[in-house]
Amino acid sequence: METYYNSLLENNKKWVADKLKEDPDFFNKLAHGQKPPVLWIGCSDSRVPANEIIGAPPGEVFVHRNIANMVVHSDMNLLSVLDYAVNVLEVKHIIVCGHYGCGGVQTAMTNAHVGLIDNWIRHIKDVYRMNYEELHVIQEPKARVDRFVELNVFEQVCNLAKTSIVQGAWERRADLHLHGWVYDVADGLIKDLDVTLTNNSTLQNVYKLDI
Ligand code: CO
Repeated sequence: METYYNSLLENNKKWVADKLKEDPDFFNKLAHGQKPPVLWIGCSDSRVPANEIIGAPPGEVFVHRNIANMVVHSDMNLLSVLDYAVNVLEVKHIIVCGHYGCGGVQTAMTNAHVGLIDNWIRHIKDVYRMNYEELHVIQEPKARVDRFVELNVFEQVCNLAKTSIVQGAWERRADLHLHGWVYDVADGLIKDLDVTLTNNSTLQNVYKLDI
């Protein structure tokens, strides 16, 4: 364990050396500030590192991660990240990236009591309840949970669209795109769910804000 822990800091030194060998100005450029085009909302799962799986260098992706890539409207952490990304950094793309094999999503389909996290997972249970009939037409258990992962991502993209932050930005500019992706931990590939939203026209009427 001790060796493992020390190796993390050693790896950092090696990473710095490698970066400087490629570009002596690498860190000087980053030190001047950030203008990332992308906000990533992903799962905390250790197998889904945002930058690495899309080949994005430091400076390109503003990142928020939580269990099961949820967009919860009372989550001050998420709202703060979203507001800063949309209104200060002016990102062009917000990507909600779920992943097949998501433990949070799987647990939401059961009656398991894990601990404090039960209360977070309750938000995912709501998505399960809303899509119960579609999901239970699917007989094969893995196919069913995979579909639930996709439906949960779609629901979180819609939750983004329902925020005053995103609708306010859409009022002012036409270049903010919301996307839903699912990453497959078994083969490394990302599936674009093709649910891109660029305005609030597809939202049910009650969610449209007069901004
Ligand atoms: Co997950």
